[in-house]
Amino acid sequence: MGLLSGYRVVDFTSFVSGPTCTRLLADLGAEVIRIERPDKKKGSGPYKGGERTVDLGLMRGKKSVTLNAKDPEDHEILMKLIETADVVVENFRPGVTARMGVSYQDVIKINPKIVYTSISGFGQYGPYKSKGAFDIIAEAMSGFMSITGERNGKPVRAGASIADIFSGVEAAYGTVAMLLNREKTGEGNYLDVAMLDTMFAVCNNPVTQYLCGGPVAQRIGNEHPQDVPWDDFPTKDGRLVIACARTNLYAKLCEVLDCREYIDDPRFCNDEVRLINKEACHEIVRNHTRNWLTADLIAACDKAGVPCATINSIDQACENESIKARGMIATVTHKTAGTYQLPGSPLKFMHNPVELTKGSPILGENNREIFSGLGLTKEKIDALLAKQAKVRTFFKEFEMD
Ligand SMILES: CC(C)(COP(=O)(O)OP(=O)(O)OC[C@H]1O[C@@H](n2cnc3c(N)ncnc32)[C@H](O)[C@@H]1OP(=O)(O)O)[C@@H](O)C(=O)NCCC(=O)NCCS
Repeated sequence: MGLLSGYRVVDFTSFVSGPTCTRLLADLGAEVIRIERPDKKKGSGPYKGGERTVDLGLMRGKKSVTLNAKDPEDHEILMKLIETADVVVENFRPGVTARMGVSYQDVIKINPKIVYTSISGFGQYGPYKSKGAFDIIAEAMSGFMSITGERNGKPVRAGASIADIFSGVEAAYGTVAMLLNREKTGEGNYLDVAMLDTMFAVCNNPVTQYLCGGPVAQRIGNEHPQDVPWDDFPTKDGRLVIACARTNLYAKLCEVLDCREYIDDPRFCNDEVRLINKEACHEIVRNHTRNWLTADLIAACDKAGVPCATINSIDQACENESIKARGMIATVTHKTAGTYQLPGSPLKFMHNPVELTKGSPILGENNREIFSGLGLTKEKIDALLAKQAKVRTFFKEFEMD
């Protein structure tokens, strides 16, 4: 049993930010019920078994119900469902939930203890509240993009959609905190998470530095703003990254590279002077790492306790022995995609471990289960699904299961 089993979440999310929040709740065992339009269009591929692989990853462990919130009959069913829920999560543009009749104000009338989480680009209040946003917008506006990339290159976004992902993580963290508080006080709450705020908070180190009177941070590639040596370094047969956050680790690296004379060198003997003489220090390290085979240098650094790694591609990461040993590749099942693999949960609880077995749902997979649980008769459900079948765009074959 997952740590959040017994909690019911009504999930009005799309794209990545909101679905990341509800994925984290589902991973811990919450019953997450996605509300999707019966005429929902699929986005771009790649696909497996007729589903987008992005959805196979993000929607795992969730249920799917098709309802058109703007249809009065469907809306009535939706409100019945929300009455039974502990949590609502949505990531529409502010104002959309009010038009759908499922805003926080609508919901507390029928379920006053609800925990309700909204994710948006710029928040439910503020000058940009009605602007839409995607990952790159928040990465750009927050300052994050300006400090990411090569020193002389253009600003770049991160290789994964971290503005979406961090917003989802913050939202899940806030949602669980609201649930904990509800256990103590019996009171619900409302959470407003903005992607811009999240990415600004991600820039905690450079923002605090600036606000404390320090310089405006710049792009420095793989280097670290404070710690030296810290970069990717060439070897005889490739590259590796080495990270020495303090002088004790720098000294160990000098031992490994057989250049002990630099340990007490006045240019490098403490954290401050190494930062001032960063390029000279990195040049010395580069000149030594070039004489090593990558595997030998990794082995020597590991033995000495110096943090280092090869720069893996995604397929290489999937083969990594630590990833495998810690159960970070889970196998789940899906109605049309069959069995497939995805990243496991990094939360390794001693009790109530996370167990991922169920893949993402197909559109409307749980219609009958959820509707009959709400007391709808078989005749009523048949009629509802027959009405929806006229606008369904995919997986019609499962419509009347
Ligand atoms: C992502 C985003 C830009 C997309 O914009 P959009 O395609 O114009 O979508 P909106 O959120 O404005 O509106 C969704 C529409 O679908 C409708 N809709 C969605 N699900 C529905 C349902 N089950 N039943 C009926 N209508 C539904 C809504 O009512 C709304 O229509 P309306 O504007 O005519 O009332 C916007 O949703 C946004 O900024 N979200 C917040 C930030 C975010 O999370 N971005 C994604 C990061 S991964």
